[in-house]
Amino acid sequence: MKNNAKLKIAAIGDIHVDISSQGKYVPLFEELSQKADILLLCGDITDRGLPEEAHILVHDLASLTIPVVGVFGNHDFESGKTDEVKDIFRQSKLRILDGTYYVFRDVGFAGVKGFGGGFENHMLEPWGESTIKDFVHEAVNEALRLETALSKLETEKKVVLLHYTPIPETAEGEQKEIYPFLGSSRLMNPINLYSATAVFHGHTHYGKPKGQTSKGIPVYNVSLHMLRKINPEQPYIIVEV
Ligand SMILES: [Fe+2]
Ligand SMILES: [Fe+2]
Repeated sequence: MKNNAKLKIAAIGDIHVDISSQGKYVPLFEELSQKADILLLCGDITDRGLPEEAHILVHDLASLTIPVVGVFGNHDFESGKTDEVKDIFRQSKLRILDGTYYVFRDVGFAGVKGFGGGFENHMLEPWGESTIKDFVHEAVNEALRLETALSKLETEKKVVLLHYTPIPETAEGEQKEIYPFLGSSRLMNPINLYSATAVFHGHTHYGKPKGQTSKGIPVYNVSLHMLRKINPEQPYIIVEV
């Protein structure tokens, strides 16, 4: 491929692989191997964060012939076996980004899970009870880890993977009452600071597919549930960068 050729990025979030999913994603992975150069999995990769679920995905990923990069989502933490799940993925072709980065051709990928806390003027502030402060610190920490990963990228094109959304726009369609649990504006700062090329996230199963940061950087919600409703034949997006 020539240096100036664009990279075709396929992205899906919330595949929620469970113990009954064996073989479920094989046709999709075969299709994406033909249509894209790299696949991003934007969290909630497993349904309950069980090693058995991770093994099922690894089995299905044998049908994928392009690189695959992902971040964990909240569901991947449910069983408290994240380290075990990480180890299973480490021995497979799926590379998990967790405040880390990956470079493929001329594009750098930086990823973290992210966290909630709400948006813009309505963000939760670190004030009052220590549990509230801990909640806010988790979002601040995730934003800092994303900033660190982005700062290490020397590529001009920088793609961000998240599970939680950095903007409220792609959450539109969800109940307003749960917005604080869907993402945090704190995640948007490093994206703007490093002029990322594009951002992909999941988690907002009932949101809308596209929005942008305050600096105009495109943000794609790639939650499988939402994409399936838009087009059952193509439950993924492909973006060229
Ligand atoms: Fe999900
Ligand atoms: Fe989620």
